[in-house]
Amino acid sequence: MEDSAQPEDKSRQALEVTLQEERSISRARDAILMANIKELNDVYDALREKLKELRRKDERIRSFEAELVRANKLSALGELAGSIAHEIKNPLISIQGFAKRIGQTGNREKVERYAKFIEKEADRLSQVLAKLLAFSRMEEPKADQISMNDIVDDTVLFMEHHLTRFRGVEIVVEKDPDLRPVSADRTHIQQTVVNLVMNAAQAMPDGGKIRITTGRDGTHAFISITDTGMGIKEEDLNRIFEPFFTTKDKGEGTGLGLSLCKKLIEANRGKIEVESKVGEGTTFKIMIPLDRT
Ligand SMILES: Nc1ncnc2c1ncn2[C@@H]1O[C@H](COP(=O)(O)OP(=O)(O)OP(=O)(O)O)[C@@H](O)[C@H]1O
Ligand SMILES: [Mg+2]
Repeated sequence: MEDSAQPEDKSRQALEVTLQEERSISRARDAILMANIKELNDVYDALREKLKELRRKDERIRSFEAELVRANKLSALGELAGSIAHEIKNPLISIQGFAKRIGQTGNREKVERYAKFIEKEADRLSQVLAKLLAFSRMEEPKADQISMNDIVDDTVLFMEHHLTRFRGVEIVVEKDPDLRPVSADRTHIQQTVVNLVMNAAQAMPDGGKIRITTGRDGTHAFISITDTGMGIKEEDLNRIFEPFFTTKDKGEGTGLGLSLCKKLIEANRGKIEVESKVGEGTTFKIMIPLDRT
């Protein structure tokens, strides 16, 4: 009898031991799980705190940025006023000087020469003023349905006569015949193309080629103007759109052309890009958004 009861007891004992072990393993598991959950909760709390802190920092950065933009605008305005004063002061001083000399000399030939100088300086003044007026008077752009291809044709027609002044400058036009019209102000785009073609011609004193291309670039229609001229130095590339930045001789350029172009294109929801290599040439690209249809 003893023999038959013993194995049963043994197996029960073994079962109980196993059960005990299982229980303690499960308790340990629970404890670990609880510890993990607590740890996760702590991490979650810490993350939430960090997020709040980040949001606070983000807000501070935003208000700081807004302040910076305002300060920048003010300083740009100050700089502009400074440059305008400078641009106007110099010709005025020479005009004054020559007028005084005219009053002092009895020599007819000298009088004529001084008068010529005065005329040249006055011309320069009125050029600067005309461009400044174009800036300040810029009206709200009209939303004409215009074809970039027509703009190129009109501009080339209008400039051909003017460009005969530049010896050896050839214009090549490549239009995309499938280009859809855009809504923009015809005069603004035309004025920009004229300025860019003038710059291109002026960059090629020994002649060269101006290639005008139209096409579609994703969501935009573009006109690009490429020359085979002197190119733009890398350190000048981010200054060329600043008002009064010019590398041309006194009397040759006011440095207002490109800043006006940028303002005109941006007023028409577009953008203007430049790529250049010294000694090889430059490409300016005007992009105007295509209507979504
Ligand atoms: N196609 C180009 N090739 C080389 N340099 C260029 C070209 N276009 C512009 N630049 C550079 O950018 C400068 C600024 O051009 P921007 O048209 O604003 O003024 P400008 O041509 O000097 O004077 P303005 O346009 O009033 O006659 C130029 O003086 C020149 O140095
Ligand atoms: Mg120019």
